[in-house]
Amino acid sequence: MTKVITYGTFDLFHQGHLNLLKRAKKLGDYLIVGVTTEHFDEARGKVNVIDSTLERVENVRKTGLADEIIIEDHEGQKMEDIQKYGVDIFTVGSDWVGTFDYLKAFCKVIYLERTPDVSSTMLREGRFQIVQIGIVGTGRIAPRFVAEEKYVSGINIIAAYNPEVESGNEFQKKYEIDTYFEDYDAFLEKVDAVYIASPNETHYDYARRALLAGKHVLSENPVALSKEKTIELYQIAREKDIILLEGIKTAYCPGFQQLINTARSGQIGEIRDVEACYSRLADPMSRERTDARFGGAFLEFAAYTLLPIFKLFGTHYESVQIESILDDNGLDLYTKIMLRYPQGMATAKCGVGVKSEGQLVIAGTKGYILAESPWWLTRKYQVRYENPNQIDNYEPRFQGDGLRYEMSEFVSKINHVEKSDYKLTEEEIVAISELTELFMEKRATRQL
Ligand code: CTP
Repeated sequence: MTKVITYGTFDLFHQGHLNLLKRAKKLGDYLIVGVTTEHFDEARGKVNVIDSTLERVENVRKTGLADEIIIEDHEGQKMEDIQKYGVDIFTVGSDWVGTFDYLKAFCKVIYLERTPDVSSTMLREGRFQIVQIGIVGTGRIAPRFVAEEKYVSGINIIAAYNPEVESGNEFQKKYEIDTYFEDYDAFLEKVDAVYIASPNETHYDYARRALLAGKHVLSENPVALSKEKTIELYQIAREKDIILLEGIKTAYCPGFQQLINTARSGQIGEIRDVEACYSRLADPMSRERTDARFGGAFLEFAAYTLLPIFKLFGTHYESVQIESILDDNGLDLYTKIMLRYPQGMATAKCGVGVKSEGQLVIAGTKGYILAESPWWLTRKYQVRYENPNQIDNYEPRFQGDGLRYEMSEFVSKINHVEKSDYKLTEEEIVAISELTELFMEKRATRQL
């Protein structure tokens, strides 16, 4: 009996997939089809797969061509499967010619002719609006957005806006952006959506004008500096039926979601304490260190450190205490936010002029989770127990610098693929803005 194996995502099952499976089946007597999981696809940079793993498996099953269907979830699995199932022929479409030649050490490798003019990518794009996005602000974060854009299908950067002509022009040239505007209204007319990466104090105004013009908004944190303004922006978005997404990138990282789920699963018992720290020594001449009104450690990092706390304990804390170490100019070099909940307590620490261990520790009644720096781009974490020799290691997949996950979420939301807000809820954002407002009041009056 000749055993044949093939792999694919099989998203939005199409004629090309069917033809490929028919041809693969003809190569032997027994066909095994490997269908990739969402996480594996994400890890390979395919972040916009629409059908769930179960739907994709079901679509392959319905063809009646597969004698066996398996799930592919990790790098290197093909080699394992070929040996495990005693496979004689490995086959995929001709778009992969050469890629899998290394499998020739284990079996025959055949690249089958690919069906022209159809692909899941084309179907996804045809089905969905390609989001034509413009970047507001061309400073330090914007280039990272440009670099990650190519990993997310369905989004095109077409314009940049910066009232400072020189910086804008330079950016446009360097990153080959189609158009550059110094007039915000003209810029808004050109785009479907905006990514706001301008200085903190300008986010609200840019976001509000974009939303009122009916444009989707992805804004760097904080989108507004008060609770009232944050609520107002969400209300406009709801009324206009458009998307407002706050760019706290940790929230969209698959590894962070996994970590939160581990904590919620009961593995460490009841959660009693959460301690999150994020510090980066900023250049003394930078905006973070010189802008006493809109710079400083809290505004830079508090959203990240508050995120795991709100995820695990909710937003209804009993009391809050904020303390800072201030620079001569009144800016917070280091800030500690202490929250008390009925079931436990939490601390969020942020630094731009004091360096500490950037870790996340979630303490429970049976053990604790330790995620080392940079836990905010969750690549690994451990569950530890009383017995120091017992350690469970987790290494979730993580690609790029984290932005692609929030971009992908934004595109999915615009296209109504992703409907739920569980990754970052309006309630969480509003709670963060409430603390931001409280902090800014205290800082302005030096009550920290
Ligand atoms: N395939 C094919 N002809 C097509 C499209 C896909 O023969 N027109 C083959 C691929 O070469 C692969 C299998 O079908 O062996 C599964 O491919 P998959 O990557 O799931 O489909 P694509 O349509 O290529 O998906 P995407 O656009 O996301 O890359």
